[in-house]
Amino acid sequence: MSEAILLVGGKGTRLRPLTTFTPKPLLRVGGVPFLTHQLARAAAAGVTRIVLATSYLAELFEQEYGDGSRLGLELVYVTEKEPLGTGGAIRNAADHLKSGPGEPVLVFNGDILSGLDIAGLRAGHWASGADVSLHLTRVPDPRAFGLVPTDADGRVQAFLEKPETAEEIVTDQINAGCYVFTRSVIDTIPAGREVSVERETFPGLLRSGGFLRGVTDDSYWLDLGTPTAFVKGSADLVRGLIDSPALPGATGEALVLPGAQAHEQAILNGGTVICEGAVVEPGAVVEGSVVLPGARIAADTLVHRSVVGRQASIGTGSVLREAVIGDGAQVGPHNELPAGVRIACGVELPAQAVRVSAPIAA
Ligand code: GDD
Ligand code: MG
Repeated sequence: MSEAILLVGGKGTRLRPLTTFTPKPLLRVGGVPFLTHQLARAAAAGVTRIVLATSYLAELFEQEYGDGSRLGLELVYVTEKEPLGTGGAIRNAADHLKSGPGEPVLVFNGDILSGLDIAGLRAGHWASGADVSLHLTRVPDPRAFGLVPTDADGRVQAFLEKPETAEEIVTDQINAGCYVFTRSVIDTIPAGREVSVERETFPGLLRSGGFLRGVTDDSYWLDLGTPTAFVKGSADLVRGLIDSPALPGATGEALVLPGAQAHEQAILNGGTVICEGAVVEPGAVVEGSVVLPGARIAADTLVHRSVVGRQASIGTGSVLREAVIGDGAQVGPHNELPAGVRIACGVELPAQAVRVSAPIAA
């Protein structure tokens, strides 16, 4: 048996309004709920039993995955009445583990798409005798993450979550959101209160002489916490830049799910996904975007690196760039929206006057 805890209780604030009715891990990425990719990868790495640490919109997880048998996993759901933070959630979920004190337990943030060798991280943990092994990755701008400098042997020297001053930016190596804990170490996290594993548990373990082992690799890695990352992750899956056992179709420029209708005179590219019940009319150009179930993209629109929510509609001739359109919102015809705009769920934007191009000189 090999066990894991999956942290899926966050509110997904940076992805609003997409996360108004759907928790971040259940948003559709590459055609299926994002978490399905993580669960399938964990199962492929030999994980057999996963405790899901839920809080925000908790009941939707069990509705989606039931007992987990469809994915070859045993799934257990634990709900925090009030969010306990990442460390508190791990401690709370641990009450439902079966592993003994000396056994390794994997812990995953629930919003990471990565090509990490999960089985290798666990095997290396066992061999090293570390208290915690942390997957690390390098990013061009580490400020939104936890910085984790290591020595030449990979031993973690500090843990600096979301650094605020220039002096704190000591490395481009960050916490990639996957750990192996020796079970007994989880049991040292205080129970029944909010704890941040990044701000409290890891720095505390380092102060008390704990052995934290960093494992840096250069496999694909993306945190799907922002709209830009969310559409990129989905497009990268569809285009095959990252493998997933859960991708519901062949890789290519677009994935049109069964039950979607994309007109043959629509252009779909850049890793676009059209989900079931969605309609794309002739002349529409949909690039690198996610069109969620039941949405309607009218004729002659341009939808570029955007997310169109469930049952939302985009009127004829409208242009979206890096936009996020909430569930049920209606963008009337001929709206050229500013890049990066977010439209709340259910909002109706009136039609705009048709733009007439400059008359051609006689
Ligand atoms: N159950 C539960 N309860 N889960 C939570 C809670 C909570 O109170 N708070 C957050 N989570 C879950 C989120 O759902 C997510 O899957 C994970 O914990 C991490 O939370 P994020 O909100 O996505 O954190 P982040 O992206 O700002 O930072 C974290 O991830 C980075 C890598 O992507 C940190 O671990 C950073 O150190 C790390 O670099
Ligand atoms: Mg995150």
